[in-house]
Amino acid sequence: MAKEFRRIGVLTSGGDAPGMNAALRAVTRAAIDKGVEVMGIYEGYKGLVHPQLKRFTSRDVSNIISRGGTALYSNRCLEFKEEEGMQKAIQTCRDNEIDGIIAIGGDGTFRGATDLSLRGIPTIGIPGTIDNDITSTEYSIGFDTAVNTAIEMIDRLRDTCESHARCNVVEIMGRNAGWVALEAGIATGASAIVINEIQFDEDKVINQILEAKKNNKRNFIVCIAEGVPAALGDKLYSEKFAKRFEEKTGIETKFVRLAHVLRGGDPTMRDRCIATQMGSEAVRLLLEGKSDLVVGMRNGELISTEISYALKLDRMYKGTLKEGDLDNFTEEQIAEMKAYCAKRHADLEKLYNIAYEMAH
Ligand code: F6P
Repeated sequence: MAKEFRRIGVLTSGGDAPGMNAALRAVTRAAIDKGVEVMGIYEGYKGLVHPQLKRFTSRDVSNIISRGGTALYSNRCLEFKEEEGMQKAIQTCRDNEIDGIIAIGGDGTFRGATDLSLRGIPTIGIPGTIDNDITSTEYSIGFDTAVNTAIEMIDRLRDTCESHARCNVVEIMGRNAGWVALEAGIATGASAIVINEIQFDEDKVINQILEAKKNNKRNFIVCIAEGVPAALGDKLYSEKFAKRFEEKTGIETKFVRLAHVLRGGDPTMRDRCIATQMGSEAVRLLLEGKSDLVVGMRNGELISTEISYALKLDRMYKGTLKEGDLDNFTEEQIAEMKAYCAKRHADLEKLYNIAYEMAH
């Protein structure tokens, strides 16, 4: 097993997420445990196009399990998207005798991983993004920490809202998915949650809030996912919502945006543990001769999915499929993908409805 893989590379790419360091540590230690050397590749794919690599020992990943950000740094490398950049990356792998790569990040990272796989460098992806918007997996590294950070911030806002009988409208990071806004909203008892995935009835919510006010409720939190303003084509939607809310309810309303603050911070136990499991699993798959797969989690179990399948599933869920995207899939596979997307949406809807049961 270790004969074929003498040395592997590991990189982090795209938006950073708490827990990426725990995954980097796990990849490094799992590989070393199997007698395989590890090269840390800096700044994502850029570190392959313009070589920036370092041989990692176990000590190089000591004391990073508890740290946010990524010790390998990250970058969104446009050059790597061109054939010329890709060939430079392949050459770097050859020059450094890298037999395979583990790439930690989101869907852009996995597209890059597939490009390498297709050109003969076996590659396995690990999902890392606070947004939890990689459809093929129920969990992506960084989500739990981001939700917990949002909870801490919103709890503080609630304290002052209660003192002053105010509302706080909170816009929460998540460009293409409302998971962070939804779960943080539930966990902080938000009076309303606005996310892309579910139709929002503003008047109904305002009436519900006025009812609660009559019942002596003093503080109100409204969570809006970052993707909502973009989808509505109005960057200032959340600020305007806060104003409108104040006018319609007579409740003094403040606005705050929780953006990159949610991407930093020490990872929670859940992120450290899942990142460690996923890192170890990615090494196992790579050394077994597997490639072009992304590790994931379903029903609490580790799974792996072909990257092309994962990317198309993602587009299906987000309604962004292009013509011909499903040409290489069987009818059975397409039916299975549709059922999975429907279940994922139903799970989200169920949570959303529970949030409203609580908002009285
Ligand atoms: O990591 C995902 C994400 O946090 C999105 O929710 C957000 O819109 C985006 O990254 C912003 O990333 P950056 O500012 O690094 O481009």
